[in-house]
Amino acid sequence: NPIQAPVLDKCGAATNLNTGKQLDINCCPPVVQNVIDYKLPPVRRLKLRPSAHRVSAEYIFKYNLAIDRMKRLPKEDPRSFMQQANIHCAYCNGAYDQPGQGTLDLQVHNSWLFFPFHRWYLYFYERILGKLINDPTFALPFWNWDNPKGMTIPPMFNDPTAAIFDEKRNQANLPPAVVDLGMTGNKDPLQVVSNNLTIMYAEMIRGNSSVTDFMGKPYREGTPVNPGPGASERGSHTAVHVWVGDPRQPSGEDLGNFYSAGRDPLFYCHHGNCDRMWTLWQYHLPSAKVPDRTITDPDYLNTQFLFYDENAQLVRVTVKDCVSNRAMGYDYERIDLPWLDYRP
Ligand code: C2O
Repeated sequence: NPIQAPVLDKCGAATNLNTGKQLDINCCPPVVQNVIDYKLPPVRRLKLRPSAHRVSAEYIFKYNLAIDRMKRLPKEDPRSFMQQANIHCAYCNGAYDQPGQGTLDLQVHNSWLFFPFHRWYLYFYERILGKLINDPTFALPFWNWDNPKGMTIPPMFNDPTAAIFDEKRNQANLPPAVVDLGMTGNKDPLQVVSNNLTIMYAEMIRGNSSVTDFMGKPYREGTPVNPGPGASERGSHTAVHVWVGDPRQPSGEDLGNFYSAGRDPLFYCHHGNCDRMWTLWQYHLPSAKVPDRTITDPDYLNTQFLFYDENAQLVRVTVKDCVSNRAMGYDYERIDLPWLDYRP
């Protein structure tokens, strides 16, 4: 059976998975009784998520304005900056149990729920930001770390006066440091770039002989946590988290720890690119080895999550409604994929 939406009033203590200790923060969302089944609104015009390295000054201004307003919402508002960050903590650090499965934790990582969960998370985050600046066309940026032109922290995140700034980042990895998708520790930027492209080719093409190799292993009602990540989650996704996390903090905060990752606005930009990898893999890559790119198992398609939408209404969503990004109303700016030619 599919995993059911978590029960909000049973949300409890969360664990710091880097240390195994109980966290002293409460990352549970506000509890309300009224939940509705979310229906995707009709798509009039696709929103286009831009590459974070290519956005205009006007875009940066609007994005910061939206994040700033999110930070100013009352703390208890489920759309506020911290509440939004805590969604990640609640779904990833053991605050929820799987409904009907005793104390078995619910954990959306390291499984086939990785892509769908984060897609819905960004979807509502983006709509909330759009609402806060009265711009329903607002689209989140993506960190284009798979392209040499995007392999540093996007400059707009590195402005200490900006709302999207976060000081809890590894100071050694601020621009112009080149992201190290292989966690090699290599300091030669040219070698790192070329290694990154090789890794992208392996994650996106060479290493995948089945749909779950890319998406992650089955995770159904009763499955213990962490059945196994897909290639992209395990590789570039995790590497970027670790690479940005701040070694001066007790356990890799912000981006380097599940519970705190959502406190860095860069998180949503990083996950924009992870999500983009999913769409590329589904619709735009050569398909010789894995002709079928969508998981059709009903246990996958009927998995449910809860989110608060842009009107602070609690909604229940299903995986099947998120398998097409275009049906959700957005797409990604087209950027070339140099790693396609990086067969070792
Ligand atoms: Cu939910 Cu990048 O992790």
